[in-house]
Amino acid sequence: MCGIIGYCGKEDAVEKLLYGLKALEYRGYDSAGIAVFDGDEVISVKSEGRIGNTEALCKEKGLQGFCGIGHTRWATHGEVSVRNAHPHTKGRTTIVHNGIAENYNELNRKLKERYDLISDTDTEIVCALIDSIYSEIEDPIEALEIAKERINGSYAIAVIFSDIVDTVYGICQDSPLIVSEDENGMYLASDITAIDSTDKLYYRVTNEVAVLCRDKLQFYRKGEKVIPESFNADRNMRKCEKDGFSHFMLKEIHEEPDVIKRTLDRYVIDGIIRFPFEDILTSFRSIRIIACGTALHAGMTGAYLIEKMAGIPCRYEVASEFRYNAPEDMSGELAVIISQSGETADSLAALRIAKELSAVALGIVNVENSSVARESDIVLYTSAGAEIAVASTKAYTAQLAIIYLLAFKLAYKKRRLSLNEQRDLCDCLYREIPDAIREVIEIKEQIEKTAKKYAVCENAFYIGRGMDHLLCEEASLKLKEISYIHSEAYAAGELKHGTISLITEKTPVIALLTDPFVFSKTVSNIREVKARGAEVLVIGMSKAEECEYDALISLPETDPLFAPFTAAVAFQLFAYYVALHRGCDIDKPRNLAKSVTVE
Ligand code: G6P
Repeated sequence: MCGIIGYCGKEDAVEKLLYGLKALEYRGYDSAGIAVFDGDEVISVKSEGRIGNTEALCKEKGLQGFCGIGHTRWATHGEVSVRNAHPHTKGRTTIVHNGIAENYNELNRKLKERYDLISDTDTEIVCALIDSIYSEIEDPIEALEIAKERINGSYAIAVIFSDIVDTVYGICQDSPLIVSEDENGMYLASDITAIDSTDKLYYRVTNEVAVLCRDKLQFYRKGEKVIPESFNADRNMRKCEKDGFSHFMLKEIHEEPDVIKRTLDRYVIDGIIRFPFEDILTSFRSIRIIACGTALHAGMTGAYLIEKMAGIPCRYEVASEFRYNAPEDMSGELAVIISQSGETADSLAALRIAKELSAVALGIVNVENSSVARESDIVLYTSAGAEIAVASTKAYTAQLAIIYLLAFKLAYKKRRLSLNEQRDLCDCLYREIPDAIREVIEIKEQIEKTAKKYAVCENAFYIGRGMDHLLCEEASLKLKEISYIHSEAYAAGELKHGTISLITEKTPVIALLTDPFVFSKTVSNIREVKARGAEVLVIGMSKAEECEYDALISLPETDPLFAPFTAAVAFQLFAYYVALHRGCDIDKPRNLAKSVTVE
């Protein structure tokens, strides 16, 4: 999704801005651009497609300077085109913008007489708004404070004014904007990974106007100088090299055994789960897990486990639907918001609604200091480190690990699990599961061979029952996201109620078969699809060998309770290799964004 960078200092701004844009690539984008003070003139360069295109244009034009702003755009208002790409300029004002100005129609009506608007974007209208106010009052800081009042929605904006050479301004509303300084200059970005500064303090802009000059950094609120909230950068989140792997996704799958250990290290001490908010956990009558995408799928498994193990009513909700499903009152409820980035707009909106309805909000988040982390009442962190590939892998298994701990803890609090049982389960998850995952990674060549066969298909089904069905949802999403094969996840027993009409010999069925409790039932469903010509790939432990299949990915023997971890790595690798053999852009799948900051 869109990303912002700004720089002002002693070094080559073009280089700094391009560095930032490349670091923002992982969020997903379809065009990019920068605007730099080349001497005392503002020059903008933008292009469709990869940052490399913008970089080549900068070279061609010999663009140079010490101060500028940049943007990666993920189209929301208007097609992907240079015309719609940022920066946008109106009068003396040039801006880059993340988020949506919800009242852009109303603003447009007021401004279209005065400005010649050439793009389809709300950003150009916001730019015109800022320029019109600036023309009236000739004070940049006051103009931006007034503009803030007039723009509805969540956004972050970086601004330069052509008559105030070598100065960048930043404002935001419910959308991240981070500022930092080092001996080389001042930096502003929507995402910490984009800031190429040495390990210094970071400031979070909220209600301030940030002003970055070549030798000083200032913040203003209502005209007064202020110092905003600051924090230390998590170096882990800034490390983003492929380390010899062909893709970030493959690298991140390989990190999963360590990520699980790291996540557990934070909350399990001598086999006992220690959360920073022990007492609260006994006071809920029900739990609602709310999330999007992969995080939602982790939440589905969580809801299943919590109900089964702790006997507490627990449901999951699609975050973007929550506002339409929300009950009148959530007092006595725990709202669990799961989010890798902690910035997903739908999840954040759901968190705010749940709090308004008097729920206690527990955030399960990967990024410290993210909006979900800050706004939740209590937080549990997944220690997955920076996840760069758009398709989530290690963050998913880290979310599962936290959710398992939560289920164990709640079961213990409800006296359904003894301390010794809790210790044994944590021990198994810590000592056996990472090694079992390594065993799955070791058979990746075999998984690749199987995947190659399936790379030619255009449709697929994933089937399973119980926990396997919930896993199928994530397995199917992985395949769709990166290989563009249309795929559906089905409860194995539901297929015959209509969907089986789609099964032909060209439609492979991938069956997850890890749960012994439903084994024979799923096997019957496998027979039904085989009888209709489907090619069946089974993913399961040794018992799966008993059923009829065309291909098998054999998982190491573990306690079936923990099979989601090994099965997840198997289906992630499967999707990865299918996509590889289809020649897809695995780390940056078309149309997708890593962090979806619009509702
Ligand atoms: C986007 C990403 C998914 C991710 C989802 C939720 O759709 O493409 O990979 O699972 O957002 O993101 P979050 O950061 O809230 O976990």
